[in-house]
Amino acid sequence: MIFLHEPIFSSKEIKYVTECLKTGWVSTSGKFVSKFERQISSITNSKYCLALNSGTSCLDLSLKLLDVKKDQEIIVPTTTFIAPINSILYNRANPIFMDIDKFGNLDSDKVIRFIKEETYIKKNFTFNKKTKKKIKALIIVHVFGNISNYEKLISLCRKRNIRIIEDASESLGSFYKFKKIKKHSGTLGDIGCISFNTNKVITTGSGGAILTNKKNIYDRALYLSTQAKDDPVKFIHHDIGYNIKLNNVSAAIGLGQLENFKVILKKKKKIFDFYKSKINKLKNFELLSPPNKCLSNHWINILKIKNKKKYKIDHFLKFFFQYNIQVRPIWYPNHLQKKMKKFQKYDLKNFKNFHDNCICLPSGYGLKNHELKKILNVIYLLDKKMKT
Ligand SMILES: Cc1ncc(COP(=O)(O)O)c(C=O)c1O
Repeated sequence: MIFLHEPIFSSKEIKYVTECLKTGWVSTSGKFVSKFERQISSITNSKYCLALNSGTSCLDLSLKLLDVKKDQEIIVPTTTFIAPINSILYNRANPIFMDIDKFGNLDSDKVIRFIKEETYIKKNFTFNKKTKKKIKALIIVHVFGNISNYEKLISLCRKRNIRIIEDASESLGSFYKFKKIKKHSGTLGDIGCISFNTNKVITTGSGGAILTNKKNIYDRALYLSTQAKDDPVKFIHHDIGYNIKLNNVSAAIGLGQLENFKVILKKKKKIFDFYKSKINKLKNFELLSPPNKCLSNHWINILKIKNKKKYKIDHFLKFFFQYNIQVRPIWYPNHLQKKMKKFQKYDLKNFKNFHDNCICLPSGYGLKNHELKKILNVIYLLDKKMKT
């Protein structure tokens, strides 16, 4: 089977994990965690980095750090892995589902229109005309490793006191030329969240990191993620804390992975270039390219079907599986999920076409040439089939 994404480990991860085990420091304290955090800070050019046990924990904690309260509202795209939506619900807040642009990312223009036409300002906060509830934050998700243009949206949110969380789970290594400066994903707003799950560009088994340039946010994140200890000797806690820090063994794996990071990014770019050069010559298919100002990590490659005619997306998925190639559809639109149907949606149109016409292709950096050729041959076969 050719998998969508497979983790690869080298002797470096084995060396660091062995070293870690020998020290006996296997829990959430230890030198590998702080080393790993420093390296992520340096890659992302973020002042502070706090490593947690998953990307989902990062998103959940981010909303708490911005003091999101029950029944407040959070703007979020409908097309994303479900974790950012769940994190809104963990905090008993309500999502407002937004549409996506041609890259599959949050549609910035529509969100701007929504804020301008469907909200009002009261005591320096933004409220929803329809529900009269406070719109506390916006979650931007950089899907597939791509960053769209959010310059105007971010400045509008600043004016309207809407806080910004970036879900950069899939985009470690992706940059955006923001106001002529190259900024790493997760550093455009107030807080960025990264995931190091097994399928991401680098992995710690499971894990994540919060990025911020604000010391008060970092300090509170550290406090809440380590049981809110006000006096660790006498066990005094003035707040409700969590036990969600990354452990030292996982950080040791992550450090090993990071030593290979530049090579990983190069290989991922090569895979993207290969797919693009071949697929974009076909009549019925196209490879999704990153937005103009984005330097993508090419986390996952998206095959767009230009002219599906009589075939449904399932037909394409099954065809790949017949050849032992694992492909995936785009996430099921979240506003249609059972628990999400009751929440507000705004002018949702583009999501459907994207969902019905796009397929995630195998994109792991360990893909061999013969595997890439096999995948391409299956795409050729499909192209031919569609012509007849
Ligand atoms: C966009 C997005 N957000 C959040 C997550 C959640 O991260 P984790 O699996 O580390 O909890 C993922 C992936 O897993 C993701 O792709």
